[in-house]
Amino acid sequence: MADRFQYGFIGCGNMVSAIIQGMISSQFCPSSQIGVSSRTQSRIQALSKDTDIVAVQSNQELAQKSSIIIVGVKPAQYPTVLHEITSSLHSDTLIVSITPSFTLAQLQHMIDHKCHVLRAMPNTPLAVGCGMTAICAPDDVPAEIRQKVVDLFSSCGRVEVIPETLMDVVPAASGSSPAFFFIIAEAMADAVVMQGMPRQQAYSFVAQTMLGSAKMILESGKHPGQLKDEVCSPGGSTIAGIAKLEEMGLRGTIISGMNATWEKIKEMGKKTE
Ligand SMILES: NC(=O)c1ccc[n+]([C@@H]2O[C@H](COP(=O)([O-])OP(=O)(O)OC[C@H]3O[C@@H](n4cnc5c(N)ncnc54)[C@H](OP(=O)(O)O)[C@@H]3O)[C@@H](O)[C@H]2O)c1
Repeated sequence: MADRFQYGFIGCGNMVSAIIQGMISSQFCPSSQIGVSSRTQSRIQALSKDTDIVAVQSNQELAQKSSIIIVGVKPAQYPTVLHEITSSLHSDTLIVSITPSFTLAQLQHMIDHKCHVLRAMPNTPLAVGCGMTAICAPDDVPAEIRQKVVDLFSSCGRVEVIPETLMDVVPAASGSSPAFFFIIAEAMADAVVMQGMPRQQAYSFVAQTMLGSAKMILESGKHPGQLKDEVCSPGGSTIAGIAKLEEMGLRGTIISGMNATWEKIKEMGKKTE
């Protein structure tokens, strides 16, 4: 394994760029140990500026030269790309799928059971070292190889190892939900702008408050409802705002959005069965 890239990426879009940015910022491994192949070279060139990341000319060459291969293409491209690289895989290669659309069994079938496969579900905040990644690995993945994947994602945020039965839930919980938080932040900032604050300042206030509130949930050990109560003075302005949000169906709307994400994941999985 020594003369191969430690980590090879196929595709260089939003999610792969976020992972590589996180790895580079945290100095997780020498950038010369990261190989990337993609259909379009421009994103690789942007990422490899000021680093030693290696642009590899084809997916097969990348597969041949990498110990751990993170497949970062869209779900529709997975069958083609995995079929394309199958003959280049070594028996000790590990494929990491980051798409919610295929089970471990489906992925193994696509590569004719040539090597180990593991599933991860990261999110774009990995780019700033504050990601959340779920990992599920079958028992036949050797512990030291599984640990290399845990270490990679831990270098850019939190990691939880979960059973495959929970993987469909993760996109709503953390994979897709950054988009939900961005919309909420934008809407909150719109209101603040309406009330007179300059837009950049409004984003700064809202985003810092989201960050601090998230840290309180993670670090205080308190129930989110208790933390909410601690902000609400009797007869005060916060509870007036909350009453309005409840009247407009905030909780039900959020639960419906999360469930729509989950339903879509299940539908996408069924299509590929
Ligand atoms: N975005 C997220 O927040 C997120 C979160 C969790 C998981 N994921 C998963 O991550 C995967 C990628 O999503 P994304 O949002 O990063 O998509 P994306 O931005 O569209 O990136 C896909 C990349 O794959 C490249 N590509 C397409 N076909 C290829 C091929 N045959 N060989 C090599 N490269 C090829 C694309 O090249 P071009 O530039 O030429 O199109 C592009 O660089 C998906 O499976 C998704 O489910 C994404």
